[in-house]
Amino acid sequence: MARNLTFHIFRHNPADPASTPHMDTFVLNETAAMTLFIALNRIREEHDPGLQFDFCCRAGVCGSCAMVVNGRPALACHTKTRDLPESVTLLPLPFFKLVGDLSVDTGVWFREMYQRVESWIHTAKAFDPSKKEARMANATAEAIYELDRCIECGCCIAACGTARMREDFLGAAGLNRVARFRLDPRDERKDADYFHLIGDDAGIFGCMGLLACEDVCPKHLPLQDQLAALRRKMAGTALRRTLPFFRDVKKIRKK
Ligand code: SF4
Ligand code: SF4
Ligand code: FES
Repeated sequence: MARNLTFHIFRHNPADPASTPHMDTFVLNETAAMTLFIALNRIREEHDPGLQFDFCCRAGVCGSCAMVVNGRPALACHTKTRDLPESVTLLPLPFFKLVGDLSVDTGVWFREMYQRVESWIHTAKAFDPSKKEARMANATAEAIYELDRCIECGCCIAACGTARMREDFLGAAGLNRVARFRLDPRDERKDADYFHLIGDDAGIFGCMGLLACEDVCPKHLPLQDQLAALRRKMAGTALRRTLPFFRDVKKIRKK
C-alpha cells in the first residue's frame, strides 16, 4: 500500500525582512520510484508554488540539488523516498549562503576556493597551440579523472566538523582539488608551493580526519586516501622547513 509521506521543510527568505525561519509541513502520497526531487516538485505544484530549491540535471551530475535529508547531506535527485521513513525533514546545506528555503549559493564559495588553491596548471612552458599535446600515461590520466569527478555539490563541506567551526577551512573539496593538481605531471608546482596554500589550520592541518566527508560524498570520491596523503606530504614538508632551524639552535647551545 502506498505510504503517506510527511515532509517538514525549512522555510526562510533572507531577502525579506518580514520572513522568519520556520518549518512547514506537507503530506504527499508516495508513488513508485519517487525521488526527493519528484516529491519537491509535486509539493511546489500541488501545495506551494513559492517553495525554493535548486536542480538542473536531475541525474546526480550538476551538484545543485544537495540538501540535508533527515540530518544527512545528500542529493535530492538521487534520494529515493522508499529509502526514507514516512517522516522526512529537509534543511538547506549549512555553511553556504542561504538563498531561500532549501536553496543555497555554493557557486561563490567554490569559485573563491578555486582561486585560493590556484586551481589551474602552473607551468613555465609557453603554450603552443600548433604543437601536439604531450601524451599522459593512462594510469595517471585515470587517477586525475577520479578526483575530477567532484560535482561541487557541497555535501562534504556541509558534513565537515572543521568547516562548521571555521569558515576559512578549505574542506575536502578544496583539498581534493590540490590533490588533483599534485598528480598532474603538467603542473610544475612542488610540495613547498602546495604547503604555502594548504599547510595550516585552514588547510590540511585543520582536518580532524573523522571522514564525514567521505561518508556523504555522492560520487564516492576517495577523499580519505587524498587527505591522508596530503597530510603526510605536508607534514614532511613542514619538517624539512623547520629542521635547519633546530639544527641552528643546537649549534648555538653547543657554543
Ligand atoms: S575528514 Fe577532514 S575534511 Fe573530512 S569531514 Fe572530517 S575534518 Fe572535514
Ligand atoms: S568531494 Fe564529493 S561531496 Fe564534496 S563537493 Fe565534490 S562531489 Fe560533493
Ligand atoms: S539536480 Fe543535478 S545533481 Fe541533482
